Amino acid sequence: MTRTLYYTATSLDGFIAGPDNSLEWLFTRKRDEGGPLNYEDFVAEVGAVAMGATTYEWILDYQSSHGGPKWPYDVPSWVFTHRDLPVMSDGEIELVRGDVAPVHERMARAAGDRDIWIVGGGDLAGQFADAGLLDEVLVTIAPVTLGAGAPLLPRHVELSLEEVARNGDFVAARFGVVR
Ligand SMILES: NC(=O)c1ccc[n+]([C@@H]2O[C@H](COP(=O)([O-])OP(=O)(O)OC[C@H]3O[C@@H](n4cnc5c(N)ncnc54)[C@H](OP(=O)(O)O)[C@@H]3O)[C@@H](O)[C@H]2O)c1
Repeated sequence: MTRTLYYTATSLDGFIAGPDNSLEWLFTRKRDEGGPLNYEDFVAEVGAVAMGATTYEWILDYQSSHGGPKWPYDVPSWVFTHRDLPVMSDGEIELVRGDVAPVHERMARAAGDRDIWIVGGGDLAGQFADAGLLDEVLVTIAPVTLGAGAPLLPRHVELSLEEVARNGDFVAARFGVVR
């Protein structure tokens, strides 16, 4: 059955990026690549992804400065934006706007038996939660506080702790969304 998952890394004080969209605090930490909630195992079960414009632009910038634009996902991808952003030609990417529910229907069809990944940011994950469409929040918590930045999930969402473990420098935790 397709689940809709918000999988991300966060600082201990609940920011997924620093004030200037920086992720240096994240990339300098050690991960156990075969450990709990590791990326490879997670992404193998993903059949569709969605993200907001800031995350998309961050990926465009990052790829451009690391050997040229290359879309990192091989599954259908939806980018929420009000702007006419450039679309990377090597990805199956659609720009969308507004209500997340009709997009979610299309994502579920594309994902088949696999999961839907809400990549971020936090408000977009919150829009899926508001629509009753978010099933789980999976976070790897870095041992750092940032004080400000892009919030993890700027909503009141009730969660149940389903799993917690150590992954390298991180706490890995999986929460169910309580409806
Ligand atoms: N730590 C991690 O693992 C991780 C994971 C993901 C992202 N990140 C980072 O976290 C930051 C997230 O940035 P963010 O909080 O600004 O969130 P974001 O969701 O990436 O981008 C927000 C923008 O998306 C567009 N948008 C959102 N919902 C929309 C809707 N329903 N319809 C149309 N457009 C919509 C709007 O852009 P416009 O109106 O301007 O088009 C909005 O300003 C980024 O720096 C990203 O790189 C970190």
